[in-house]
Amino acid sequence: MNRCLLTPGPTPIPPRVALKGALPVLHHRTSEFGAVYKNVAQSLKYVFQTKNEVYMIAASGTGSMEAAVVNLLSPDDEIIVASCGNFGDRWIKIAQMYGVKVISVSVKLGKVIKPIEVEKVLKKNPKIKAVYTTFTETSTGVVNDIKTIGEIVSKTGAVLVVDSISGLVGQEFRMDDWKVDVVVSGSQKGFMLAPGLSFIAFSDKAWELVKVSKIPKFYFDIKKYKKSYTTNETPFTPPVTLIVALEESLKIITEIGLENIWSKSRLLARATRAVMESLGLELFAEIPCDVVTSALVPIEIGGKIIKTLKEEFGVFIAGGQGDLKGKIIRFAHMGYIGKIDLLAGFACLEMVLFKLGVNIKRGKALAAAEEVFLKG
Ligand SMILES: Cc1ncc(COP(=O)(O)O)c(C=O)c1O
Repeated sequence: MNRCLLTPGPTPIPPRVALKGALPVLHHRTSEFGAVYKNVAQSLKYVFQTKNEVYMIAASGTGSMEAAVVNLLSPDDEIIVASCGNFGDRWIKIAQMYGVKVISVSVKLGKVIKPIEVEKVLKKNPKIKAVYTTFTETSTGVVNDIKTIGEIVSKTGAVLVVDSISGLVGQEFRMDDWKVDVVVSGSQKGFMLAPGLSFIAFSDKAWELVKVSKIPKFYFDIKKYKKSYTTNETPFTPPVTLIVALEESLKIITEIGLENIWSKSRLLARATRAVMESLGLELFAEIPCDVVTSALVPIEIGGKIIKTLKEEFGVFIAGGQGDLKGKIIRFAHMGYIGKIDLLAGFACLEMVLFKLGVNIKRGKALAAAEEVFLKG
């Protein structure tokens, strides 16, 4: 059966990119690989909207999250984690594992971080070294106001570290203009690649913390990646095929242009929200992001929706994580996912809800999506 992958990572891979990834493996200490590395390094600056170097680490996104902790901090340092979901909470878990003291500025699931709350805690705690937060919280579907948080943190001695693993490429994000000091991302979402590669960039202000950080590290020691960057290499054997494929996906991103990608995501997000509402499903996110839409579903059928979509139609969507298990569904509209994939997903969702006994009028979902797409 053909599959329709509408999960918020991994996402589908364009054939152009998949073909590049299937080419014979290059050796990573050659000029051929060096040329690929150089192109990729240049394009990553565009995607991150930064002048800083962007390093590639062979790990899933969480690897770069860990790198953002171990390279900036020392045991007993104090940080703020502004969390609004499962992935924000991951910052807390990583930091506490290394003996870092965490002040948590958390909100209820589905809500966004209030920048003013971060400001209040920063004012009360002048020793704070860093504020860690999340751009698009994939587990709830909200988007946080990183620009305002950046303004606040930049006026203090602390650095701002942002997990942009699901939001980068798909939704407007500007590392330098928004005064973000460290950004992490991963390959399997907006970058339209298979999982396994993560990205991280540091501002000059963040490098000052790197110099004095005392948490032990070896594989994730970012100084090694900085040194290798000068010779277009990574310190350890990189996932060469992923990086060759990345060169192609970055070519596509550059050809289309970030602004056009951002506006495409906005349109897909509007259509998805309209469909959920047409089906009587309440949107879950206080301020919904453009890369994934979450909606509340009757608890008794939450799991069945996901299972039936997969088994009967080959449509893969995500459910809720942790406390949200069974309570929400999540439809992604990032990366290579386009209108045609979503239309198929919407029609199948409507049929599944109908079969599961939800009181809906059939035909409404596609009508709602068509309305949005036709208006553009
Ligand atoms: C916002 C966010 N942070 C962190 C992660 C973890 O990334 P990975 O699973 O690549 O380690 C994800 C992945 O779903 C994510 O969406």
